[in-house]
Amino acid sequence: MPPRTDPAVLAEQVAYYRARAGEYDEWWLRSGRYDRGEALNAAWKEDVAAVEDALCRRLDARRPAHALELACGTGLFTRWLAPRVGDLVALDASPEVQAINRARVAASNVRYALADLFAWQPDRRYDFVFMSFWLSHVPADRFAAFWRAVRAALAPGGEAYVIDSGWDTTSTAKNHVRPGREAGTAQRRLNDGSEFRIVKIYYEPAELAQQLDAAGFTSAIVATRRYFIHGPVTPRRAPAGGAGEPQSML
Ligand SMILES: C[S@@+](CC[C@H](N)C(=O)[O-])C[C@H]1O[C@@H](n2cnc3c(N)ncnc32)[C@H](O)[C@@H]1O
Repeated sequence: MPPRTDPAVLAEQVAYYRARAGEYDEWWLRSGRYDRGEALNAAWKEDVAAVEDALCRRLDARRPAHALELACGTGLFTRWLAPRVGDLVALDASPEVQAINRARVAASNVRYALADLFAWQPDRRYDFVFMSFWLSHVPADRFAAFWRAVRAALAPGGEAYVIDSGWDTTSTAKNHVRPGREAGTAQRRLNDGSEFRIVKIYYEPAELAQQLDAAGFTSAIVATRRYFIHGPVTPRRAPAGGAGEPQSML
């Protein structure tokens, strides 16, 4: 069993994203400290297009009636989900990012829920549970419990979909100190110089697939050319005896 993550780091992670809300998109758009020059920005944008396209094709094929987005952030993906699902619950711990998300997406089928995912239990089931750049912030010691909660949130026949960071030293801001790949946590800095500790776990597709398999899920995780991993995750049927029933994440 991995060592228990200090809850103070999880609180700092929430504080970081709350404080970062107004500058969050600079990362995705490769502006400011995230501008890595023409060639790397082009490689990034190619991978952005690849994950956006894969998600939209998946949604267009499935057309989920009820969808849930975990850690929705400023809406970089909510904007693709909302027009392709019946209704969407967009959950995050930060009211600041949700305000930006609401203004960006402006869709009447999206309901915003404020919740701490480390204390969250689904109160209903969904056909599609989406998370982008969230799983890497779930500490190893909470991975299994997190996926039990996802399983509890999925309706029969439903699927989860993960997009996250691959390991590449040019993905973060130029003035971020990169810890070793195995560190599990990272120090992040805002434009004003303030610093925060966060959880950051970089998965190889095969390694993530193996961990998901151990948690009772079948997945098809692939890597983009350079920066991201992504793919669908489906629960295997729970064995008789109740494995896979809703349980607390804590
Ligand atoms: C890297 S961002 C990803 C946002 C968005 N999914 C995207 O792809 O741009 C991580 C998000 O997780 C949220 N978050 C951090 N800790 C959380 C927690 N304990 N419960 C719920 N959301 C949390 C942050 O507010 C932030 O919006």
